[in-house]
Amino acid sequence: MIFVPVLVINLILLVITILLSIADRLLVSYGECKITVYHEGESKEFSVDGGGFLLSELTSHGYNIPSSCAGKASCGFCKVQVQKGGGQILPTEEIFMSREEKLSGIRLSCQVKVKNDIDIFIPDFLTTVRGIVKNKTYDPKLRWRFIKDGQESFVPEKRLIKLDPRDETAVDAILDEFEGMRGSLVPILQRINTTFNYLPEPVLWRTAKRLHVPMSSIYRLATFYNAFSLEPKGKNIIKVCMGTSCYVKGGQRILDSMQNKLGVEVGGNTEDMNFTLETVSCIGCCGQSPVISVNDNIYGYFKPKMIDEVLHEYCKKELEKSQS
Ligand code: FES
Ligand code: FES
Repeated sequence: MIFVPVLVINLILLVITILLSIADRLLVSYGECKITVYHEGESKEFSVDGGGFLLSELTSHGYNIPSSCAGKASCGFCKVQVQKGGGQILPTEEIFMSREEKLSGIRLSCQVKVKNDIDIFIPDFLTTVRGIVKNKTYDPKLRWRFIKDGQESFVPEKRLIKLDPRDETAVDAILDEFEGMRGSLVPILQRINTTFNYLPEPVLWRTAKRLHVPMSSIYRLATFYNAFSLEPKGKNIIKVCMGTSCYVKGGQRILDSMQNKLGVEVGGNTEDMNFTLETVSCIGCCGQSPVISVNDNIYGYFKPKMIDEVLHEYCKKELEKSQS
């Protein structure tokens, strides 16, 4: 019975939204707006009639932006970095954004209305992402990250780095598996990240050599996704949710207790490398807040007194693994 009023309210909201967007389209004129796009090392400018959405404008000007939800803000693939203009980030975008992304101007292009001049940056491997989206191997929960102070400045100097023979065998096995597959760099990095718990530099050099791609491309990709780490990580990643819903229900208390128990700050690894402690802005389980996750497992309605039990569970698993 509760269902009927909820449906009516939703219908009314939908009608209001449609009327507002029609009114916005018919009554408000944003005039001509200039879009400047930085892509593949060059910048291009074009003018459009204001009022359209950035994703449509980019697509109609030949930019291949990944999208699998037709602009409904439900896939999270259409991210670009808005460097100027674009207005405030919308609530519909927040679920797909890490705090760092929000700070660096990442937006869902399907949600950005062109109301004034806009400058954007499109990473040159978006086409690779498009291929991955098509093959359904891309995880939409992955966060994307841009380097703030210019990409090339982070590219390390080429130098000789010795690779441990066991690591060499492991990385060669991964590379053999993807041999000849186009657009496989992201899945390869995902596998390396899972195997080593991070992307070790010597392994990346080996990958660059075997795939005949410049290290700068690999490095750019490796630093673009938050799911990749260039620093060693613990075997188990604990994420304490600090999103609004979890925060008001005691997220900070959980984080403080977790830091005390593990003896690390956020971003740190325990000495035995069993755990890495991180925070997250929303895990998508607000109904069970406060929430933490360990690897892919979610622990809802979490309380600081449950920490010991959870840590014990994972320490036991690691011990069993080392004994088997
Ligand atoms: S196109 Fe899916 S979120 Fe923008
Ligand atoms: S705010 Fe914590 S799961 Fe959404």
